[in-house]
Amino acid sequence: MGIGGVSWLSYLILLLGAAVCLATCPCSDPALCEPIKETREFEVYVFCVRGKNWKNYDWSQVTTVALFAPYDPELMCFAHSKGARYVLKGDVPLNKIIDPKQRADWITEKVNLAKTQYMDGINLDIEQPVIEYSPEYYALTDLVKETTEAFHREIPGSQVTFDVAWSPNRVDVRCYNYSALAELSDFLFVMSYDEQSQIWTDCIAAANAPFNKTINGYKQFMNLNIDPKKLVMGVPWYGYDYVCLNLTECNRCELEKHPFRGAPCSDAVGRQIPYRTIMKQVNGSLTGRLWNDDQKAPFYNYKDAQGKTHQVWYDDPQSIALKAAYIKKLGLRGIGMWNGDLLDYSNDPIAQQQAKAMWKALIP
Ligand SMILES: *[C@@H]1O[C@H](CO)[C@@H](O)[C@H](O)[C@H]1NC(C)=O
Ligand SMILES: *[C@@H]1O[C@H](CO)[C@@H](O)[C@H](O)[C@H]1NC(C)=O
Ligand SMILES: *[C@@H]1O[C@H](CO)[C@@H](O)[C@H](O)[C@H]1NC(C)=O
Ligand SMILES: *[C@@H]1O[C@H](CO)[C@@H](O)[C@H](O)[C@H]1NC(C)=O
Repeated sequence: MGIGGVSWLSYLILLLGAAVCLATCPCSDPALCEPIKETREFEVYVFCVRGKNWKNYDWSQVTTVALFAPYDPELMCFAHSKGARYVLKGDVPLNKIIDPKQRADWITEKVNLAKTQYMDGINLDIEQPVIEYSPEYYALTDLVKETTEAFHREIPGSQVTFDVAWSPNRVDVRCYNYSALAELSDFLFVMSYDEQSQIWTDCIAAANAPFNKTINGYKQFMNLNIDPKKLVMGVPWYGYDYVCLNLTECNRCELEKHPFRGAPCSDAVGRQIPYRTIMKQVNGSLTGRLWNDDQKAPFYNYKDAQGKTHQVWYDDPQSIALKAAYIKKLGLRGIGMWNGDLLDYSNDPIAQQQAKAMWKALIP
């Protein structure tokens, strides 16, 4: 056999190897590697950030899990067995996708990754500041358009979504063409939290997602002629722990100044804490759970080991259910949370009941 024969043979082996690789489905039932095709009317969108907590999600509700953790083939098989989509995370510096060729390469890479991992789409989490009518402004719209087209073409039934701040009005200098992003994607995930990232008035601690501010955000999106069915409400399963410079008798917690994207004060002086940590702390705090009826959110005060006073603002089943009840009124596509792994999923019966109540609050 000549040299040509050997290389021909090794070429054949390579080809066979590649075919076997593509065909290797990690699920016990190969049918579970098929992408999800049907779309349910109400979306319950979960960000999965780590570990095996997903085993404790309420799968009677979940429709999509966005992967913000390493790929987990077991989760892919499981989600598919429940008819839920499992989607990639997509983030890219916008100056890298102004060039159409570079943009196309990025999209091809993501589509191929989704195919080899049997995934059902992508969540674009691009939270970068953009100036109106800049090259980045147009490139972002093109990115969403071309990503959606490529995914829909290459993976039938797949879903392409885009994460937006709680309001389209220049929040954190994200001047995007929101109506185009809504039109060109399957839907927008509205991050109705971190609503104090830019504090323009009194520099005091406030709710992460106050009721009125949250609802107004949706009205602003709808004023741009965005179809409410293109909006999924994101709620926080975390709160903010602030150190108070001064705490008045009526619970005004003054904050240190911290400019953020043009505003004098920001929630950046606070520390994000998971709902599970809050639940361990609230009953033993100085005040216990208090309710602010203007913001329709719970909070409490506590003193740390150094004697500093803190104020913690968070969301719980009561504040979430109030917002979730608005989904029907506004005709939104569904609900979701940042993130699914912030609850205490241990065997402790109180924790179990608290986790259950948080899931239940999503669909009041
Ligand atoms: C924004 O998107 C809309 C809808 O696709 C389009 O009609 C409009 O021209 C875009 N605006 C700019 C400034 O490109
Ligand atoms: C804290 O608030 C009290 C009551 O409003 C006020 O008298 C006091 O001057 C404040 N202290 C500081 C350090 O701002
Ligand atoms: C805290 O108090 C509430 C209300 O009294 C109670 O339902 C909850 O079980 C308590 N949490 C813990 C961790 O003990
Ligand atoms: C919230 O909005 C309602 C309806 O617009 C208004 O009546 C109420 O005063 C607002 N509450 C606060 C605290 O801004």
